[in-house]
Amino acid sequence: MTRQDPESFGSRGGASAAIPASLPRLPGLDHTLRFLNSGYPFIGQTCDRLGVDGFRARLMLREAFCLRGPEAAALLYGRSGTTRVGAMPTTVLRLLQDKGSVQQLEGEAHRRRKALFIRLVMDPARVDDLTRRFEQAWMRGLTPDCEITVLDHANTALTRAVCGWAGLDLSERDIARMTRILFRMSDRSGHFGPGTVATLWQRRALERQLRSAMRDATGDTPLAVLARELPPGTAAVELLNILRPVVAIGRYIAFAAKALHEHPMWCELFRSGNDDYIADFCEEVRRTAPFFPAAAAIATEELVWQGAIIPKGSWLLLDLFGTNRDARHFPMPERFRPERMLDWTAQDDCFIPQGAGKVERSHRCPGEMATLALMSSAVRMLCCRMEYTLPPQDIGVALNRVPARPASGVRIRIQRVSRETIPGNSA
Ligand code: HEM
Repeated sequence: MTRQDPESFGSRGGASAAIPASLPRLPGLDHTLRFLNSGYPFIGQTCDRLGVDGFRARLMLREAFCLRGPEAAALLYGRSGTTRVGAMPTTVLRLLQDKGSVQQLEGEAHRRRKALFIRLVMDPARVDDLTRRFEQAWMRGLTPDCEITVLDHANTALTRAVCGWAGLDLSERDIARMTRILFRMSDRSGHFGPGTVATLWQRRALERQLRSAMRDATGDTPLAVLARELPPGTAAVELLNILRPVVAIGRYIAFAAKALHEHPMWCELFRSGNDDYIADFCEEVRRTAPFFPAAAAIATEELVWQGAIIPKGSWLLLDLFGTNRDARHFPMPERFRPERMLDWTAQDDCFIPQGAGKVERSHRCPGEMATLALMSSAVRMLCCRMEYTLPPQDIGVALNRVPARPASGVRIRIQRVSRETIPGNSA
């Protein structure tokens, strides 16, 4: 599972021999409906059917080069020749990363901004602090006989933890409002309708609130550091690029609760005090859980990939979901097997739930360390600090709903809560 050599494909310069072919194009005028109906498996299933790793389709009236696999990952994450600018529909961009954010930068400007993120969210001491705050927030209000929905409970605990950690002083009412808005930003990113417009409007109001909190910020909190190092508008956008995705981890925590229910031997193992495999368990949840189906980019020069020309200006979609389930790299990919011992620190181009490439030099997510730490902490608390049952409910996952989730959010009825401290709280 090593990374491909980025020089083995790419722009046409150099001594190339034969004129490369183009990728196969799906028959038919437009494939948007087919894409919406199939959801996450669309690119992978089509590739399997055609026996290729890439094809052209027409999605939302635009030709898209749909690609999967480590070589495609290296194309979007391993070299120059692509940009994220213009690659996502405006509403998706505005709800998620937004204009002016690190994701919209390339080259030296990107490296400088990314270094700031790495300092703030990949510092083990800061991640430990965030995890401890999350544990306290998670245990709040849990009593025997109460019933919670893991997704909602995790969202609130993550919001409380990350806002305090970032340096924001919020009232109880603000926390409830903040949880709602931060969750909706990623929850609504796959839809368009009145709900999306309302969320965009709420996001703008939140940015104004963050800008005003930044005026008085001092010290070493992420709020103060961003306020010192970036212009006010950009600082608020980037703070949201920490707050929103931390709350999005609640979805992975719900998928982890579903996996614990479906594979109880892991819960028993962790409960017996053997928590060496919690990180492996969480990595397998990240591999199998459908979250962002694809990463998108625009080719800024003519590219050659697997012998095919991709013209300058083309829209590229990298299948994150299908690459994580490619049987060539993950034997029996539908099986949930923490024994695969996946590890984000390898930063390879096959296991890519949060992007590929080297984090400091590409658009790979800087939040994987925090994601693993918070998921591991939630799994430890579910297994070792409480006993619970699942009332009858639907925990199925609709793969044509983006982003996906276990339908019920995973409701649990708590029978016993332990207030003892548990050893180790980070990945
Ligand atoms: C639910 C967990 C998460 C998922 C599924 C996720 C997914 C992703 C993906 C797929 C990308 C690549 C986007 C691209 O290639 O254009 C990305 C980038 C990014 N993520 Fe995450 N992420 C998560 C958690 C986090 C966390 C916890 C943080 C911060 C604390 C974070 C901050 C960012 C930032 C700033 C970028 C842009 C990086 C760049 O453009 O260089 N993410 N994320």
